[in-house]
Amino acid sequence: MDRRIVIVTGGNSGVGFETIRVRSYVFTVLEHPHDLHAQVLLLRNAKVYMAARASAKTTAALAALHESTGRTAHHVPLDLASLESVKRAADDFMSREHELHLLFNNAAVMIPPVEQLTPDGYDLQWGTNVLGHFYLTRLLLPALERGAKSAPDAHARVVTSSSNGTYVGKLWPETWRDSDARRRKRSYELYFQSKLGASIISRQGALRWASKGIVCIAANPGMVDSDLYRHDRFARGVLSFVLNPPSLGALPQLYAGTMPEALKHSGEFFVPFARLVAHKSDVYDDAVGRLVWDWLEEQIAAHEGRPEP
Ligand SMILES: NC(=O)c1ccc[n+]([C@@H]2O[C@H](COP(=O)([O-])OP(=O)(O)OC[C@H]3O[C@@H](n4cnc5c(N)ncnc54)[C@H](OP(=O)(O)O)[C@@H]3O)[C@@H](O)[C@H]2O)c1
Repeated sequence: MDRRIVIVTGGNSGVGFETIRVRSYVFTVLEHPHDLHAQVLLLRNAKVYMAARASAKTTAALAALHESTGRTAHHVPLDLASLESVKRAADDFMSREHELHLLFNNAAVMIPPVEQLTPDGYDLQWGTNVLGHFYLTRLLLPALERGAKSAPDAHARVVTSSSNGTYVGKLWPETWRDSDARRRKRSYELYFQSKLGASIISRQGALRWASKGIVCIAANPGMVDSDLYRHDRFARGVLSFVLNPPSLGALPQLYAGTMPEALKHSGEFFVPFARLVAHKSDVYDDAVGRLVWDWLEEQIAAHEGRPEP
């Protein structure tokens, strides 16, 4: 990872934090003694940007990373729920770096109260987990293309956090913005929808950007004990016996983001611990993929005041 430039969204917490740090090292030594080189990022000399909201938590996470690795992660302030903030974050990154080799679209919000919307009026989970990451990736595309050209393996990678929830997720386009239909949904349904959307975009990105040398892979961290359950502490308590530490949850996405073998798997889905599985069938449906992609492009065009593509 020498001189590779990496962004981890939501890197101040849980799986994203462990993706930057390398506490999973010990587990990996025990379980996969030949795969040590999957353990990367700060300790492997990558230059890592934590794209996260500015907060005391982010400041503490940056300090903890420095303490445990002796290296510094850089901060890009990012609120994925706000298209304006996403644009500012991309501009900020591009003013500091010319190229990007690896983007972990890791952040997410899970099951907030249904009434919560993004400042732009989207469903909070769809707006943050899908639209925010889509816009960020689109804005960083020129840097990813340059990263693909300069990387020794001739590729840049976008690794998107997904979930088992994709298999039960359904798409309801009328819920992506606020509507009566949206308010009638349960928050878990909207979360699963957003994770299905994330997988669809990952596969569509793989198809559309292959000629640019950009590999897109979806990864499920598995069930992990993290702040993701902040809106459902009861579930966190009940599930605590089966939840893995975030360090293990980082493995599928680290594998997808760093292993040479993963380059062959653009458009595919890694689950714990770095096993390939088939996506839900909807993810392979290009008509569905076009519908989601075109809708996202339209929102960005409207936000930027451009005519629809
Ligand atoms: N934990 C699990 O069991 C599990 C299972 C399947 C999939 N996943 C996926 O794994 C990924 C990582 O989750 P985790 O378990 O590590 O949860 P986590 O500790 O809560 O991390 C989520 C991260 O997303 C960030 N985030 C939320 N809203 C944001 C916004 N508007 N702008 C910028 N950042 C925002 C959070 O930042 P703040 O702290 O500032 O809010 C946090 O850093 C997520 O995509 C999640 O869907 C997790």
